[in-house]
Amino acid sequence: MDRIRIVGGQKLNGTIPISGAKNATLPLMIASLLTEDRLVLENVPRLADVIQLQRILGNHGVDVMIAGKRAGDEPNIGRTIELSAKHIVDTTAPYELVSTMRASFWVIAPLVARMGEAKVSMPGGCTIGTRPVDLLIMALEKLGAQIEIEGGYVIARAKNGLRGGDINFPKVTVGGTHTALMAAVLAKGTTVIENAAREPEITDVADCLTKMGAKITGAGTSRIVVEGVAGLNGARHSVLPDRIETGTYAMAVAMTGGDVLLQHARPELLQAALDVIAQAGATVTPTNEGIRISRNGSGLKPVDVATAPFPGFPTDLQAQLMALMTRAEGTSHITETIFENRFMHVQELARLGAQIQLNGDTATIEGVKRLKGAPVMATDLRASVSLVIAALAAEGETTVNRVYHLDRGFERLEQKLAACGAMIERISG
Ligand code: EPZ
Repeated sequence: MDRIRIVGGQKLNGTIPISGAKNATLPLMIASLLTEDRLVLENVPRLADVIQLQRILGNHGVDVMIAGKRAGDEPNIGRTIELSAKHIVDTTAPYELVSTMRASFWVIAPLVARMGEAKVSMPGGCTIGTRPVDLLIMALEKLGAQIEIEGGYVIARAKNGLRGGDINFPKVTVGGTHTALMAAVLAKGTTVIENAAREPEITDVADCLTKMGAKITGAGTSRIVVEGVAGLNGARHSVLPDRIETGTYAMAVAMTGGDVLLQHARPELLQAALDVIAQAGATVTPTNEGIRISRNGSGLKPVDVATAPFPGFPTDLQAQLMALMTRAEGTSHITETIFENRFMHVQELARLGAQIQLNGDTATIEGVKRLKGAPVMATDLRASVSLVIAALAAEGETTVNRVYHLDRGFERLEQKLAACGAMIERISG
């Protein structure tokens, strides 16, 4: 298993190109199941989760082609992939394929919408809480699907097609909103989704579905209205930049000091996080090319933050902020409101010398003068990268084990950081 070795203490200076968003790419790829025509996605990041989803879609009969790939291609540029679901050959998504990635459960909506049936294994994914699928099932039921749960599989049937309905989510759910949208676009009649997630990735998927011929209004607000259509066509769509990757590197620069341009980043996708980073003492400057982050000299200030659905502070940046606050001059409080068990990084950060107390859903972080390198390991994607951020500022050497978590969601992490002066390398095997 690969490891990452980091020797801390270097400032970051230069340019980091921000990749296409993982959490938009996955549902966009899944949307290819809704049409017989070709869906072309540009700016697709090279990630383990994308490759895994290619396998899952391949099992349903989707042809996935990496377009125009030539020897010597610039690795900084996202790939273009073409997905063609002309013939769906299998409506079952088996345990072996679905268990490692929660988003793969979302194939259930387009499969039942187009084929009238789907059998999908209950999902897996990062170990950050119980992560049920009751609200996704509720959304499908509201649109007329009959649901059975059998042997660890959810079976959804709608022999005469789905019909529009009113879906009111009791809590904001990204996966629930993707599911409702993808089911509603081919349902007969009008669907109203209340308390919809407003995450930019939802808007990106809705934009792509609209190019495919769907009739959607209100995406990006908490009330989305969908007029079902009889069929969808192909389209070409470029994936929006990854706001979580952006926030992660912004916090890395705030941690080490230096001056980095986060190329292609869009400030409106993560304003709440940028405000916190500025409050912590970094300078955040939107430019025509992206976002510049710098910090020189002065120490880090503590912050009090609670995670919240968009436009609030994202849970997917909670671990990274905690790493940053381990070096603040004072006491910070971070409350996790989305997932009940998303604190697996706390004990690993402690190995580097962090002082963190957990009380229910709130972490109290006493900033320390120095962190010291150590071997660490993480159990989920964002927790792993929080250890990288801490290691960049720790004295001496840190080895981050189980790098496959990072590979799920960060494209060429070590190259991007090394290009800005970090001492970081991957050790294979
Ligand atoms: C998406 O997960 C993201 N994944 C997560 O990113 C992200 O942390 C999360 O949204 C919140 O922003 C992808 O986009 C692929 P939810 P999702 O449904 O859709 C509860 C990463 O690191 N809930 O919005 O699974 C749930 O337990 C990942 O990239 C139910 O109770 O999250 C949680 O408390 C990790 N019943 C809350 O809702 C349900 O049926 C929000 O979850 C569904 C969810």
